[in-house]
Amino acid sequence: MRTLALLLALPLAVLAQEKPAAQPPLDAGPYVPSPQSVVADMLKLAELGPTDFVVDLGSGDGRIVLTAAKVFGASGFGVEIKEELVKLSNEAARREGVADRVKFIKADLFKTDISRATVLTMYLLPNTVNLLKDKLLNELRPGTKVLSHDYPLAGWVPEKYVQMDLEDKVAISGVTTTLIYLYMVPAKVAGRWNTTAPASAGKGPLTLDLRQQVTRVSGIGRLGGKAVQFEDLKLHGDRLSFRLAGTRLAFAGQVKGDAIEGEVLEGGKRSPWSARRAK
Ligand SMILES: C[S@@+](CC[C@H](N)C(=O)[O-])C[C@H]1O[C@@H](n2cnc3c(N)ncnc32)[C@H](O)[C@@H]1O
Repeated sequence: MRTLALLLALPLAVLAQEKPAAQPPLDAGPYVPSPQSVVADMLKLAELGPTDFVVDLGSGDGRIVLTAAKVFGASGFGVEIKEELVKLSNEAARREGVADRVKFIKADLFKTDISRATVLTMYLLPNTVNLLKDKLLNELRPGTKVLSHDYPLAGWVPEKYVQMDLEDKVAISGVTTTLIYLYMVPAKVAGRWNTTAPASAGKGPLTLDLRQQVTRVSGIGRLGGKAVQFEDLKLHGDRLSFRLAGTRLAFAGQVKGDAIEGEVLEGGKRSPWSARRAK
């Protein structure tokens, strides 16, 4: 009987030993608040408005989300690992009359659902912003704006960036240089798309074969079976645009999953245009 009890207890003991210890959250950066002037410049660069939902990863004392709400009328949340900073931020939101639109949560930013953001902000260590690239691409909707204070996302082409000198930064980083990068989460456009071009371009269907490296797109078209080059092929978030070489046609549309809806401009004349992802 005693042997049986021992045998039954053994797997439990092994299981208890094998259970991996909970990993502490990764330190994404020390608490160093962005100077208030940088906060204002970041939000202006994003052309923030009342319909925006801002998420600040590692929200410190809450200043980015609080400013977004107070000055620009936006809503949002901040996620912060340090409890006392979360408490301070929520108190400030109540004091400043914006607690109905913003909140601060104590959580690990790497494990927080960020999919509601229309604007995402971060002031984190250079390696941390790069660790977040897949999360940004997988969770944020195409067209979402991503603002990073000082550190770029390697391999992403910014829509805009601003460089300035600020005396306040000497105490933080040892230099006055301050950078703000504004990115847009790109739609996924790689692959073949089927569409048509106005008859003036030539006969037959138009196919687009697109390659993509995060925000950069290249490719070739085929019109009625003949290769045709793209000019000014660009992807800005969920907006794709290009011109067909040797024609007066300019295409522009919004990528919506497996469809692109937009218009084609020929001289001054606009007509509806759409494309479908080839199966
Ligand atoms: C440089 S401060 C930026 C504060 C604020 N975003 C700003 O720009 O003023 C980075 C913040 O990230 C927080 N942080 C670090 N690792 C974190 C993690 N894994 N999850 C959530 N917050 C984290 C720190 O406690 C710190 O307050």
